[in-house]
Amino acid sequence: MASTFRLRPAVPADGAFLGDMVVEAANWRQGAARPRHEVIGGADHRRYVAGWMRPGDAGFIAEATAGGLVGAAWYRLLPRDEPGFGYVGTGVPELIIGVRPIWRAHGVGRALLQELCDHARAQGHARISLSVERGNFAATLYRSEGFAVVRSGVGRDTMVKRLR
Ligand SMILES: CC(C)(COP(=O)(O)OP(=O)(O)OC[C@H]1O[C@@H](n2cnc3c(N)ncnc32)[C@H](O)[C@@H]1OP(=O)(O)O)[C@@H](O)C(=O)NCCC(=O)NCCS
Repeated sequence: MASTFRLRPAVPADGAFLGDMVVEAANWRQGAARPRHEVIGGADHRRYVAGWMRPGDAGFIAEATAGGLVGAAWYRLLPRDEPGFGYVGTGVPELIIGVRPIWRAHGVGRALLQELCDHARAQGHARISLSVERGNFAATLYRSEGFAVVRSGVGRDTMVKRLR
């Protein structure tokens, strides 16, 4: 596998791939294999991709230079009455990230995260949030990119990064 990749902005046609990445995020635990229809069929996860892309949505896709989509990070502005796991307030974007298993630990996730945070800042957002289950090493990546835990729930933490 050639391990070079490039990033590009997400477009409306990427909705199905973002769905794949929601499934990866939900199945982060080794051995977990909740089927796609079960993950996306639940409102908790469907809200991260339903109707992609709406005004306020933004994301980046990592593509292998040899071809093929390998990962994505994106954010949405979810409403108070239909919040995500990492909701902290109206107008604060919440991000999701996923990388195909074979491509993990090649720097794709960090590159996507940095690109997305830069974009959120350029769009005028002061903060960006996410939710991570306790035990997921992704929390270490988030901390190293400036995210801090602002709320601890049952089995998961909400983290926020200040953008300015
Ligand atoms: C979390 C995820 C998006 C990170 O993407 P990635 O491309 O694997 O991450 P990177 O290669 O950029 O690595 C980021 C850091 O995490 C570390 N890391 C990568 N894989 C690791 C692992 N399995 N265990 C511990 N640390 C790991 C890397 O060493 C790197 O740190 P470094 O730059 O200091 O070396 C990806 O692994 C993934 O999709 N996981 C499953 C879905 C998920 O958990 N999504 C997030 C839900 S909140």
